[in-house]
Amino acid sequence: MPYINWDPSFSVGVGPLDGQHQTLFQIINRFYDAMEMHAPQAVLSAIFGEVLDYTNMHFKLEEAIMRRYSYPGFERHRQYHQQLVARAVAIKSDIDAGQRDAPRDALRFLTDWLEKHIKGCDVDYSPYMSKLGAA
Ligand SMILES: [Fe+2]
Ligand SMILES: [Fe+2]
Repeated sequence: MPYINWDPSFSVGVGPLDGQHQTLFQIINRFYDAMEMHAPQAVLSAIFGEVLDYTNMHFKLEEAIMRRYSYPGFERHRQYHQQLVARAVAIKSDIDAGQRDAPRDALRFLTDWLEKHIKGCDVDYSPYMSKLGAA
């Protein structure tokens, strides 16, 4: 059973971005599975590193699309991204340092991020982008 499933309530109406969000869900499910199997810290670090790399790549594309379509909420959205990355980098070093609660914190953070950032911030650009034909 996957830990978290993408469903259409997460759709932002821009195909490539929905696709990347789905990939993020998959990586997070792998992180959860590794935790459940009590994988060694090095494995958790590696998967969380993937989350971080993929996130950076995703934010770049999302920001490029927002800029291309002159999305008015761009600056604020970019700040949210920067905050999320800063938090993820801090969690990554906690995992790397072998802090006992770090993987649980990481999972809570990632779940929160997917729920709140996608549904609370990403979906805000959806009507704007759709109107301009970004897909
Ligand atoms: Fe975003
Ligand atoms: Fe996003």
